[in-house]
Amino acid sequence: MMLTNKRGHIIPMVGLGTFPFQGRTMADMILNASSVGYRLFDTADDYRGESGIGMAVSELYTIGLSREDIFLQTKISDNNACENEPLKGMFFNPNSKFMKRHTVENIVREKVENSLREMNTDYLDSLLIHYPFPGYIVDIWRTMIQLKNEGLVRYIGVSNFHEKHMEELIKDTGVYPEINECYTSPIGSKKGLVDYCNLHNCLFMTYSPLMDVAAGRISIERLRPLMIKYNKSLAQIVLRWNLDRGCFPLPKTKNPMRLKENFDIFDFSLTVDEMDLISSLNYDYQYIVESKTCPGL
Ligand SMILES: NC(=O)c1ccc[n+]([C@@H]2O[C@H](COP(=O)([O-])OP(=O)(O)OC[C@H]3O[C@@H](n4cnc5c(N)ncnc54)[C@H](OP(=O)(O)O)[C@@H]3O)[C@@H](O)[C@H]2O)c1
Repeated sequence: MMLTNKRGHIIPMVGLGTFPFQGRTMADMILNASSVGYRLFDTADDYRGESGIGMAVSELYTIGLSREDIFLQTKISDNNACENEPLKGMFFNPNSKFMKRHTVENIVREKVENSLREMNTDYLDSLLIHYPFPGYIVDIWRTMIQLKNEGLVRYIGVSNFHEKHMEELIKDTGVYPEINECYTSPIGSKKGLVDYCNLHNCLFMTYSPLMDVAAGRISIERLRPLMIKYNKSLAQIVLRWNLDRGCFPLPKTKNPMRLKENFDIFDFSLTVDEMDLISSLNYDYQYIVESKTCPGL
């Protein structure tokens, strides 16, 4: 599967993570990144940054671009948990008063309308279910299929989903997610899930691809020979490892040097042995809870 933006350009294989930036800071980051070459921007309704992206969208002309040149990805979330119910959200929770008065379709449509308004656009390139919400994913997915058929959303997918969640969607609708955005890293490689996504033509996008680099959790000593051979930083080696296994990484930074560094990974590729060496660092590390509402994920 080739994901394209509205002009039909194939998506650059590196997107920009945008959490937690907002407002003018977000807009400047998007414009700077667009000048470097980034075209895919990842956000979510609960990152509170969509209006900053909208600001950048209305200013893209200043760098010779327009809305159709970029690829905007957002998500359907539910983080409005009550203080005394930290694991349960406000929307996709059978006990919430809100859910008793609304349908899943109403909620999803309202969230998408809001995202469109905030981001100053009349279509989304990609919409994901942020987490598996037990009991609701199939209804959310059905509405997303409709939104795609109506042309409001170009690609539909999921985030933090494992095989069992994806199978649930497919069993009920026959429609595979086109994207699955999850954490993966040399120390948490999720080989089974990546293979499953590749097999089913579902693009695996990697969130937090550099978190373990930034935190010093990846052995620089083991990977130094590759850094020397290719004259690349540890971050660039890890990002390239993503690409060479079919995963599109979404690194976040607003630091101008790092914006360029993280995009400068298209002039080399890793050999099979080098890929194996990096993957051998795996010990199934998971640095954040993938879903607060789907125990045992
Ligand atoms: N779907 C989900 O559930 C989910 C969850 C988490 C994140 N995300 C998405 O993924 C995006 C990225 O994730 P993230 O922000 O958690 O992690 P990340 O992008 O992997 O890591 C960010 C950290 O790495 C540092 N960094 C960036 N480039 C670097 C480089 N070249 N060398 C060394 N350090 C570097 C950053 O510092 P500086 O900023 O100082 O450069 C920051 O401390 C988010 O913005 C969001 O869009 C999605």
